[in-house]
Amino acid sequence: MNVYDSGKMADLLAPLGFAEALDYSDSDMVVLNTCHIREKAAEKIYSELGRIRQEKERMKKSGREMIIAVAGCVAQAEGHEIFARAPFVDIVVGPQSYHRLPDLVKKAANGKRVNGLIDLEFPEISKFDSLPEPKGGNVSEFLSIQEGCDQFCTFCVVPYTRGAEYSRSVPEIHREGLKLVENGAMEITLLGQNVNAYHGAGPDGEVWNLAKLIKHLAKIPGLKRIRYTTSHPLDMDDELIAAHGAEEKLMPFLHLPVQSGSDKILKAMNRKHDADYYRKVIEKLRRTRPDIAFSSDFIVGFPGESDADFLATLNLVKEVGYAQCYSFKYSPRPGTPAADMDSQIPDEIKSERLQVLQELIAEQQRKFNESCLAQEMEILFDRKGKYAGQIMGKSAYMQSVHVNSAEDYAGRLALVKITMARGSSLAGKMIETGEENRYNHIRKIV
Ligand code: 5AD
Ligand code: SF4
Repeated sequence: MNVYDSGKMADLLAPLGFAEALDYSDSDMVVLNTCHIREKAAEKIYSELGRIRQEKERMKKSGREMIIAVAGCVAQAEGHEIFARAPFVDIVVGPQSYHRLPDLVKKAANGKRVNGLIDLEFPEISKFDSLPEPKGGNVSEFLSIQEGCDQFCTFCVVPYTRGAEYSRSVPEIHREGLKLVENGAMEITLLGQNVNAYHGAGPDGEVWNLAKLIKHLAKIPGLKRIRYTTSHPLDMDDELIAAHGAEEKLMPFLHLPVQSGSDKILKAMNRKHDADYYRKVIEKLRRTRPDIAFSSDFIVGFPGESDADFLATLNLVKEVGYAQCYSFKYSPRPGTPAADMDSQIPDEIKSERLQVLQELIAEQQRKFNESCLAQEMEILFDRKGKYAGQIMGKSAYMQSVHVNSAEDYAGRLALVKITMARGSSLAGKMIETGEENRYNHIRKIV
């Protein structure tokens, strides 16, 4: 979501004469788009700001100004505190008000900075109405369809920083999708903090769910692959599950975070379902789409997590068998209920558990990648590889695949025979390009 937002901010600032730079040295403006999800991410910005300040001061000596803006969820959560800790920051702007960044920049450039310029309002009208058309230009693009969250998991800042659930309208999303495809996109990932809770206004005046939206977008000619992230297990309704069986463009790979395998911890997290419910959702999806693979997020060391609770997580991971996963030590976030819970877990135990879990996840990822050996897989090539004569692409399962090829395949789908599987990437040989039978070649179940 932050990648998407950063792109939009760059588009918003372009009419003022700004263009993206490779780094911030000699830059007229620096926007730090920040993440508040864990303490580590949030704290990182102050050390980064310290480095940017040095550049600002260096430029000042030669008579040039640098405007520094802090955007994103740390801006939303910490507000004026940012000016207190880093008084050289000019602008603080939240994730729901960054469409007003050009106005703030104009004011800052006019020297109207009084105690810093700040805009953290959640506007009445969605910011999306004020965002410029996407430039696109990449083979794979993000499209934000939903924002905010009403779930209030007890560990999570998102409902506070991004605000209440909001869905963009179907025609607005469709227009953006068309534009992206017109500009070369073949794969679109629909984004939202709780994306499968999508409930946007359809062109028929009805409220559309995610399944209906996906089927509608799939009709865009030239669009080859659709993905969506991130989903909550509770919102995996039967229509969406059925879409995985019916809609060829919907990739057989789903990021479906469960966070923990322990019912006690799931309850304390306010996830509103138990581990068996999650197992059933996975089972239904596998019945509907046998070649589907999954990824998940896990938190270890949530308050009150016992060895038995952690074991339940390991067991769930073993049962499901993931293609990849993200895992984190629980990080207490100010203002969230879990931060005030008794029985916080010592960091050493969190670290130990994380290591055990990550070893298991790495092993599963290796096994999944090895199961692709000798298979013919459809790869969407989007860039050159590290070495000369090498091109890189993504499988349906988000694996990076590199192939030797003299031709530039960027923006092409091709069948590749996988000849090598590593921990996190694959290599193979080009078989053919073209469209024929492409959906029969996603992956064989072995
Ligand atoms: N501590 C650790 N991990 C967290 N996540 C969200 N909040 C926290 C937290 N306080 C993780 C969850 C979520 C992912 C985006 O970040 O696993 O799915
Ligand atoms: Fe945070 Fe996701 Fe829970 Fe919403 S569903 S509160 S975004 S973890």
